Amino acid sequence: MFGIFKRRKEFSVDYSNIITDIHSHLLPGIDDGSPDVDTSMKLIKGLQNLGFSNFVTTPHVYQEIHPNTNESIDDAFQILKQTTDTAGFNVNINAAAEYFLDDHFNQLLENEVPLKTLHDNWVLVEWSFVQPPFDLRQTLFNIQIKGYQPIIAHPERYTYYYKDWDALDQLMKAGGFLQMNLLSLAGYYGKAEKNIAEYLISKNKYKLVGTDLHHDRHLRALQSAGHIMHILHEMIDSGHILNPSLVK
Ligand SMILES: [Fe+2]
Repeated sequence: MFGIFKRRKEFSVDYSNIITDIHSHLLPGIDDGSPDVDTSMKLIKGLQNLGFSNFVTTPHVYQEIHPNTNESIDDAFQILKQTTDTAGFNVNINAAAEYFLDDHFNQLLENEVPLKTLHDNWVLVEWSFVQPPFDLRQTLFNIQIKGYQPIIAHPERYTYYYKDWDALDQLMKAGGFLQMNLLSLAGYYGKAEKNIAEYLISKNKYKLVGTDLHHDRHLRALQSAGHIMHILHEMIDSGHILNPSLVK
């Protein structure tokens, strides 16, 4: 499959075969994504124009920086929903969360606070770009003990895994589904991220993809990613990617 990364041919930009974007920051004013409801609408419209037709948006729950709760997420979602409904704006959207693995998250798990899930029991998780949590495998295990399926957001962005493929394999053996950011494959974050993404694709390691869209710059990067379309088509055609099956 590595040959596909060398092809130069560009396809028109169209993400419609993915159908569902399971990772984005489209709720107004509660994290480092969309700051207000007008921006949310513009970003959603931009994603729809790129072919996405279903959204599960995932605001950060990161106690130190974005201390969201189920209530703050529900409130922001209601504001967005009311505005889109009033404007007659047709969008299939639901809200889950992207949980940062820290002590606060461990407490939520321990206290059995219901987590915001996508697709029934899937929980999207992330951690530090500097180093993984020391108890990562245990946490992934604990998530499953509580009845959830951990979805590991953008593993390719943790550049300390670059060429430490064994550590990535260990993560999957610990039960995590891997989710690739489309922006990583497009080269938006840098070479290391793109290389790790290509390696994981070549090994069929991803089960999910997402935009992780925060703002207009991300939208523009997705709009000009014709160079990744042939890889995406191949990923979706392979049947390994679950996004197209997520519409209820
Ligand atoms: Fe994210």
